[in-house]
Amino acid sequence: MRTRTRLDAATVESLLAAAVAAPSIHNTQPWRFRPDPDRRLLEVHSAPERTLPLTDPTHRAQYLSVGAALFNIRLAAVHLGMRPEVRLLPDPHRPGLLATVRPAGPLDEDDRPSDQGLLDAVARRHTSRFPFTGRPVPEPVVAEMATAAHAAGARLHVPDIAGTRRLLRLTAAAEARNQTCPDRIAESRAWITAPGADTPYGIPATALGPPDAAARMPMRDFTGALPGLRLPALWFERHVQSALLWTPQDRREDWLRAGQALQYVLLTATAHGLRTSLLHQAMEWPDLRAAAALPRPKRCHPHMLIRFGYGPDGAGTPRAPGHAGGDRTR
Ligand SMILES: Cc1cc2nc3c(=O)[nH]c(=O)nc-3n(C[C@H](O)[C@H](O)[C@H](O)COP(=O)(O)O)c2cc1C
Repeated sequence: MRTRTRLDAATVESLLAAAVAAPSIHNTQPWRFRPDPDRRLLEVHSAPERTLPLTDPTHRAQYLSVGAALFNIRLAAVHLGMRPEVRLLPDPHRPGLLATVRPAGPLDEDDRPSDQGLLDAVARRHTSRFPFTGRPVPEPVVAEMATAAHAAGARLHVPDIAGTRRLLRLTAAAEARNQTCPDRIAESRAWITAPGADTPYGIPATALGPPDAAARMPMRDFTGALPGLRLPALWFERHVQSALLWTPQDRREDWLRAGQALQYVLLTATAHGLRTSLLHQAMEWPDLRAAAALPRPKRCHPHMLIRFGYGPDGAGTPRAPGHAGGDRTR
């Protein structure tokens, strides 16, 4: 590992390569990056042209996605020997500027990253929408995922069987609503790309998964059952292993923290050989999101239902290069 303390072009390239590997809703990649050589920092912006007005009117899912990219930047910076100083929402006059990252000098000996596995997981992690085997995930691995969420400023609740059923029921209710809303179907379908399509955004049809033959697992149907795109149904794992990511508050900075926590959890899982997929549908309907909150503590704002287990890897999805050009005014 070479220690770097400056944002030279090679460093920025490494940071952005890690950033864009993050998951994002519908693979919209709703981020932009702008190095500021004068202030020696990297600005992380939202990309207003890549939003989902119906699915994500509050932009919470966009912030989660940008938070995930931000976590990758932090991880890559540490592996380059830099201590990243992160400020969330640093300028109230520029609402589109979601974070800045400044290399605040070399790492202390104590900070030195010991876990190369996490960085390796950045490129290996893919959303897997296929059935998992049902093999139980060891308790210490789940505990490590929860610790990761906590370290990034969020919480991870691992429900029991009844709690899992409740969350899946809410997700199924959201999915059913989505499927009766032609405008929402059109919005998500617009982000599904045909094989060979010449775009670095959106989800290739080849990365979609099948519906559950038992109709227990409410996987998102991105196409509204478009003929030709729907795979034959398969039997999903009977005992779903899932976790609810939440934060005690629901401000924009909490959404960015939740996104970082999401990525920390997903990378921890990936480093342990797990596959993950995301069930976000219930979070897109205010009443169902409220119903997904835990009864205790009182202040619980859910962000994501994460499904995890052992099984086939997901297909890769394309990425636009991390353009080093943000908007100064936003
Ligand atoms: C906020 C957010 C919400 C998401 N919701 C879903 C979802 O409901 N269903 C799903 O299959 N994937 C969901 N995803 C996963 C994205 O579709 C996926 O990250 C993107 O297509 C890129 O693919 P990759 O994760 O394999 O890199 C979500 C991702 C994020 C960050």
